Parts: sequence; structure tokens; C-alpha cells
Amino acid sequence: MRRFLILAHRVPVGGAFTLNDLAGGGGRMDEIARAASTAFTLSNALRVDTEMTIVFSAEPPPRARRIHLTGSRLRYLNPDERSTAALLKNALVRSIPLDRDVEASPGIVVGPVDPLAALGRFLEAPEPVWLTEDGGPLGLWAEGKEGFSAVISDPIDPNAEEVAVLRGHGVARVSLGPRSLRTSQCVDVLHNEFDRRAPGTDGPA
Ligand SMILES: C[S@@+](CC[C@H](N)C(=O)[O-])C[C@H]1O[C@@H](n2cnc3c(N)ncnc32)[C@H](O)[C@@H]1O
Repeated sequence: MRRFLILAHRVPVGGAFTLNDLAGGGGRMDEIARAASTAFTLSNALRVDTEMTIVFSAEPPPRARRIHLTGSRLRYLNPDERSTAALLKNALVRSIPLDRDVEASPGIVVGPVDPLAALGRFLEAPEPVWLTEDGGPLGLWAEGKEGFSAVISDPIDPNAEEVAVLRGHGVARVSLGPRSLRTSQCVDVLHNEFDRRAPGTDGPA
């Protein structure tokens, strides 16, 4: 299984932003939506062997939210950033009055979260890895692995509390190359590394 956890620090947790201003008022929802779209969509298929958790921590609990996307169950995810952002925004809007998880659309579950606890739990999954510019070489780390549980930050690097959780779990730090990439580009590069080792499984588009 290929698992991603995206740390979204600035997206308004209640979905109170317009699709016309994803980068500004949306707190870089443009990049979060691109990362989600990139994680699951292929040219004419969906990656069914992929899951993504997005932790929205712009406000603390009880307002903080988590969206979990499951590739094998996803419907209505198109390759474009705007419609993906709309799917995620609708999930946030639907969730904010609720104190429990709800499936906002097929394969998209949303609910309240303790962001640091969620990060810690994610790091218990198989082959955890923290993607960071100053990590070790990807090829060496990926050798012999069939999947991963990768933490990637949004355009803001992990904050001190998140770094403490990551360091506390002793998670491997891996670099994808010498340049600082966008979040969505990191998703692409990691998929590609594992595609070249084992192509994975596609589902219907
Ligand atoms: C846009 S970068 C964050 C800001 C960036 N550190 C800067 O100084 O502009 C978003 C995230 O992508 C990941 N990332 C970016 N480039 C990377 C690389 N070369 N190797 C591994 N992870 C990378 C890290 O998780 C990083 O926090």
C-alpha cells in the first residue's frame, strides 16, 4: 500500500473559502488539491493501491479536521485542481457541525482530529518516511520496499511540535533530490520511484 499524510497548516478548517481564491483565502488549498489529485489519478485510471490522509490544523481541536481518501473507493475525483478542491471543501463544510466521522462522498471520510496524535498514529503504519530536503537518498531507502507511509508538508515546513513527533518516532528522513519541490511534485516523484520498482494496481478512471 502507498500511504501519504499531508500536513495542511493554513487551509480554513471549516471550508470557508472560495474556489476562486484557493492559494490566498484557501490557505494553499490549490497545492493540497493538486497533491490529492496527483496521488490518485493516472492518465486513464485511478491508483487503487493508494490512500491519503490530509490533516487540517489551522485551528486546534475540536475544530481541526482530517480527510481520509481511499483509492479503491473513490468516485468523482477528477484530475483538475478546482474540482478536487471542491470535493475537499464540501467534505470540510459538511464535517464542521459534527463531532464524528462521516463519508462525505465515496472514498472520502472526514472528521475531527487531534493533529499531533494523528501524525503519531500514521507513523505506526508500515515503512514510515518523512520527506524532507535534507534527508538521505530515496533510492537507498526504497530498496526492497513494496510500499510506504510518507509524510509531506504543505508549502510551510512542519512546525516544532510536528518535528518533535517525527523525531520522537525515529522515522527515516528521505530526500527526493537536490531541489526544494512542491508538495504535489513530491507525490509524483515518490509514486514514480515505486512504479519503476513495481507498477502497482490501477482501477477504473
Ligand atoms: C514546498 S516544500 C516546503 C517549503 C520549503 N522547505 C522551502 O523552504 O521553500 C513542501 C514540502 O515538500 C517536501 N519536500 C520538498 N522538497 C523536497 C525534497 N527535495 N525532498 C524531500 N521532500 C521534499 C517537504 O516535506 C516539504 O516540507
